[in-house]
Amino acid sequence: MNTSPSPELSQFAEEVLRGLSATPKHLSSKYFYDDEGSRLFQEIMRLPEYYPTRAELKIFTEQTEKITDAFTNGADAIDLIELGAGDGTKTAVLIEHFLDRGIDFTYSPIDISQEANDALSARFREKFPELRINPHTGDYFKVLDSLKNGSERRKVLMFLGSNIGNFQRDQAVDFFRALRAVMNPNDRLFTGFDMQKDPRVIVNAYDDSQGVTAAFNLNLLRRINNELGANFDVDKFSHYAQYRPVECAARSFLISREKQSVTIDALNRTFEFEQWEPIFMEISQKYTRAMIEELAAESDFEIETEFFDEVNFYTDSLWRPIAF
Ligand code: AVJ
Repeated sequence: MNTSPSPELSQFAEEVLRGLSATPKHLSSKYFYDDEGSRLFQEIMRLPEYYPTRAELKIFTEQTEKITDAFTNGADAIDLIELGAGDGTKTAVLIEHFLDRGIDFTYSPIDISQEANDALSARFREKFPELRINPHTGDYFKVLDSLKNGSERRKVLMFLGSNIGNFQRDQAVDFFRALRAVMNPNDRLFTGFDMQKDPRVIVNAYDDSQGVTAAFNLNLLRRINNELGANFDVDKFSHYAQYRPVECAARSFLISREKQSVTIDALNRTFEFEQWEPIFMEISQKYTRAMIEELAAESDFEIETEFFDEVNFYTDSLWRPIAF
């Protein structure tokens, strides 16, 4: 069987080919966010079971002053750089406070989606006419590289929403190290981590009673149908979420309810599914303090300040680079 991708395949097509040819089968959660996927994720963030967004927003609203002090301590001026800003709800809280305090700062949201970036800039320009905003569309690292030798001003890189949880451990370390490589000693990294907690609370967040998370996962099959000319019958797959407390990892799968074949025109391939065969879709890693400390150390950072909500559901962790 020849699975080497031909050169004209998109990266999406290549990854689908690789993932569905593998044992066990897998697809990448980074492709969840087409227009419909982004809309479903907005809906997830409003679900009663999905606590992380509210926990992080609470940290931002209740500890705005402390976060601002930590960002500005030892710096005259700041370039706030946000990786994957989403709808910017949390950041808006901080920006409003920065403006009120007359802090000298700029705000640069970086996103791979032009559409997401345009929507965010339009909203922020209207809400904060005096804000200096420099949106960048493109790959995080290419954009960061271009910002590298910009100025003496402190860069604060923000990576919120526990988006880091979608990476396996080694990928997370690689990611943090790559960020470290474009940072100066006085720069800071601010990352949101979802903490280990009652396993029932976690599993419910990924298996909500309204089935929105199920629809969010199944939407990737629809996206493959739409963009790669596949014939997935989404009713023949069901969403399954689990949480493994020893690894602190939530994982989601789509389970083939029957033996079936699926053809993907763009790949010129048919894939066989056994009855009850899983497709691994997403990891949402949860963390202990010790895990966060270890990740920081392994990526050449040390923790400067941590901001927890009152029930320790979530933390935003401010890291300082250490010398190589
Ligand atoms: C956007 C990656 C933080 O893993 O919690 C929500 C995505 N997946 N429900 C998460 C998601 C299912 C979310 N992140």
